[in-house]
Amino acid sequence: MESKAQTLYPSKSSGRPSKIAIIGAGAVGTAVAYACAMRGDARSIVLQDINKPKVEAEALDIAHGIQFTPCGSVEGSDDVEIVRGADLIIVTAGAKQQPGQSRLELAGSTVNLMKKIVPNLVGVAPDARFMFITNPVDVVTYVALKLTGLPRNQVFGSGTVLDTSRLRYLVSRETGVATQNIHAYVAGEHGDSEVALWSSAEIGNVPLSQWGPTLSGRVFDAELRKSIATDVVQSAYKIIEGKGATNYAIGLSASNIAGAVLRDEQRVLTVSTLLEDWEGISDVCMAAPTLVGRDGAGRVLNPPLTLNERDGLTASAERLRKVARDLGF
Ligand code: LAC
Repeated sequence: MESKAQTLYPSKSSGRPSKIAIIGAGAVGTAVAYACAMRGDARSIVLQDINKPKVEAEALDIAHGIQFTPCGSVEGSDDVEIVRGADLIIVTAGAKQQPGQSRLELAGSTVNLMKKIVPNLVGVAPDARFMFITNPVDVVTYVALKLTGLPRNQVFGSGTVLDTSRLRYLVSRETGVATQNIHAYVAGEHGDSEVALWSSAEIGNVPLSQWGPTLSGRVFDAELRKSIATDVVQSAYKIIEGKGATNYAIGLSASNIAGAVLRDEQRVLTVSTLLEDWEGISDVCMAAPTLVGRDGAGRVLNPPLTLNERDGLTASAERLRKVARDLGF
């Protein structure tokens, strides 16, 4: 049987096995690196951070376990040169969300940081696909697109892939059905104005609205749907309150998106992407069900939407566009 490494397609730029570069060696960046190493979608993983001793130590600590993974090498440096030739660049650098702080409140400082680092990254890896995780991820993705002038497919954000995973986890816990069979998406801002697309949700091939009693004897009425959607929005706040940051699930989400890119899986993922006349929404980056493959963010799907869902997504887009506009983009 082919080893995992052999099923990878050669890098677009050089024909050699793929390389992932992760920018930022904090809690999120190291969790992304660890998850990507465990999956083995890239032959080599590099970590880049301005804190030289930390980034070298973090990379070495993963590299010491590399024989237990399908990954070939993990290295760390403060020099952006280590990013050269990467096929996928995952940007996690930025200010941490403090307890009770919204992601959008980080916009000013984060955009200034992006203005500094993004041009250098494009300089060493112009053909890379860029995935942003740094919050507020939708605004950061939009600003990066404007700063680089790269095509929309090449620059996208982790969007609400994590929120969609949280929603599926909560519905799975309520029903006892495996998360892999919960087909439900969260779209819009990765944040307080996100929208759970309940009207198109299915459990197996049963519309969620027809599921019947859950393990707790409830049905998916408006009250239960609102309670679950609120839990999803509050998830990060709750975890940050308890441990100071979220990192494991976003690391797993990012490595999953990376796998879709590096294996050209054409998976439907709610990444943050530039929307042009999508459900009447244009000129904003936010999450919608999108085909993700070797070129990055591809076709955006048009799921059936209720008026409420459409209005929620329009409001989410407006909120994000205002933040970007206030920052001069
Ligand atoms: C969270 C961070 C990644 O939602 O925004 O956990």
